[in-house]
Amino acid sequence: MRTTPEQLTRHGWGRRTAALAATAGLVLTMLVALANPAQAASTLGASAAEKGRYFGTAIAAGRMSDSTYIGIANREFNMITAENEMKWDATEPSQNSFSYGRGDQIANWARSNGKQVRGHALLWHAQMPGWAQNLSGTALRNAAINHVTKVATYYRGKIHSWDVVNEAFADDGRGSRRDSSLQRTGNDWIEAAFRAARAADPGAKLCYNDYNTDGINAKSTGVYNMVRDFKSRGVPIDCVGFQAHLGTSMPGDFQANLQRFADLGVDVQITELDIQQGGNQANMYAAVTNACLAIARCNGITVWGVRDSDSWRTGANPLLFDASGNKKAAYTSVLNALNAGGGNGGGGNGSIDTGAWYVLVNRNSGKALDVYNLSTADGARITQWSRNDGAQQQWQFVSSGDGYYRLKSRLSGKVLDVTSRSTADGAALIQWPDANSANQQFSIQTIDSYVQLISRNSGKAVEVQGASTADGGNIVQYSDWNGANQQWQLVRVG
Ligand code: XIL
Repeated sequence: MRTTPEQLTRHGWGRRTAALAATAGLVLTMLVALANPAQAASTLGASAAEKGRYFGTAIAAGRMSDSTYIGIANREFNMITAENEMKWDATEPSQNSFSYGRGDQIANWARSNGKQVRGHALLWHAQMPGWAQNLSGTALRNAAINHVTKVATYYRGKIHSWDVVNEAFADDGRGSRRDSSLQRTGNDWIEAAFRAARAADPGAKLCYNDYNTDGINAKSTGVYNMVRDFKSRGVPIDCVGFQAHLGTSMPGDFQANLQRFADLGVDVQITELDIQQGGNQANMYAAVTNACLAIARCNGITVWGVRDSDSWRTGANPLLFDASGNKKAAYTSVLNALNAGGGNGGGGNGSIDTGAWYVLVNRNSGKALDVYNLSTADGARITQWSRNDGAQQQWQFVSSGDGYYRLKSRLSGKVLDVTSRSTADGAALIQWPDANSANQQFSIQTIDSYVQLISRNSGKAVEVQGASTADGGNIVQYSDWNGANQQWQLVRVG
């Protein structure tokens, strides 16, 4: 699906940001709440966005015609997960024959209402189609990797984060892998899935997702050790999802557990939150919200359904709205926590953290902004290259004030520069020592969840020349026409 320029919405974040940075001298930007702290947001999504995060829900395609349900979903949430419609049994009902109708129904509704989409889930031992349940060994491994590749390719560019692998650890008190047909294909099945997902959709954050991992325990430590190993060996993993299907009490080390994962260099997300109704429900919802707000790399929270009557946990009444769609005490407690929260950092939507390192993935090609051939020389060309997260693909936003930023290369310490202060279409982007000059400054315009970089000197957009999709495609400036080759997804990697 291609979006025409007319359908795109644009917001000039630059000026608001400038006022903020100028008055507060803050390195962290685009937090509207800080600009006007008196104005509390009135929905979960808007309030979370003010803290640089998202607030999401799971949606069931079969309920979308219920106007109360879809009305609440549209009003309150800005991240959407398909409750069942993107699982293996739904998307590949017979081998190598794919079915995206119900997944698309949810994803298209979300995107056309300005919401982002979490993909759930590429591989899981449950809700596998019958044909896959009958496979084992190499045949299953090949089918699983094919599934990851096909589904992630189909949704490429449309998914904020994918649960690449769901629930692969056991509840045995020892932190072992779960015994499943997928696990029996070889212990490396998880990393093979992550590599295939990265190749298929380089712009999506890739998450490992599980339950009973919400505190520090043997199972979460098993996951922790896997993530640490993946990071040390360069296996592409960006985030860990904590389902957080909670009873009437929660682990006292909930926040500390999220923090230890964040300290490994991955984002963390609460992905399927629901909390058993009981005396403590509202307080526990606030505690989970506060834990996420306290961790800069916590991108956001998703609750697993809209009203209690929509929940998979029949009778637990574990959600934020009652069966009639009224806000519960738990709702108010979450909204108050979001509105009061300090918003430490913010790893999600709508914020640029000037302390972070980002890979910029082109919307058209899926390739990353890259200093060609690992050069550290003045004048080296900037090209696109397959994403590998190397230092030559990592950029830090350095504020110049007035809503403009330089982009500093992690490899060279030099900044993105329009060659010779050119104002012409097609002028090359190079790296050059930081002089904070106008041809090194860019404003940031958002389109969907992508950004455009507009040169302060020329007013032109940074693009992949000729909409090339090849490794080595040149990065140039060109008149802003909202092209997909002029849009970049910011993926935080450090
Ligand atoms: C649940 C859905 O909510 C139900 O509708 C379905 O019958 C079973 O799956 N962990 C997960 C989710 O990762 O996909 C599960 O969703 C709940 C547990």
